Amino acid sequence: MTPAQPTQNYTIHLPEDYDAQISGILPYYSSFHQETINLVKSLPSRPKIWVDTGCGTGSLVSKAIEKFPDTKFLLVDPSEGMLDQARKKMSLYPTGRLEFLTASHTQEFSQKLEEKPDVITAIRLTKAMLSYIFRAV
Ligand SMILES: C[S@@+](CC[C@H](N)C(=O)[O-])C[C@H]1O[C@@H](n2cnc3c(N)ncnc32)[C@H](O)[C@@H]1O
Repeated sequence: MTPAQPTQNYTIHLPEDYDAQISGILPYYSSFHQETINLVKSLPSRPKIWVDTGCGTGSLVSKAIEKFPDTKFLLVDPSEGMLDQARKKMSLYPTGRLEFLTASHTQEFSQKLEEKPDVITAIRLTKAMLSYIFRAV
């Protein structure tokens, strides 16, 4: 198993530039977050534990954390740079609401969690993927 490369985020952006650039590059970027939040809201019960893998700079969690006041969010990404940006973005939230896991790719994730997650999200769209999806429909 290849260990996560701490600085590689597999996007064309530097972690510190990601938020400023992504909306202009990926159409419907914030809609993906909103639709994800709507989907989780429609579940019969609110999640106690929500893992966001490939969390990037934490944009999804920074929106969801306000809507799910009783949920604890666990964030993981293979890129330390992305995780650092997410930590900065979420620095005002109490530590009980959030936990940053050890950097890891989703497919290599092996950290033992204290509680089983109720929701796991993995939003990893690229412009190339979107072009493919929209060509296919
Ligand atoms: C397009 S960004 C999306 C970030 C975030 N999910 C969002 O919605 O803003 C892709 C993220 O996936 C991460 N990533 C790349 N390969 C990954 C993998 N194999 N497993 C988990 N995350 C990965 C990158 O480091 C980057 O932070």
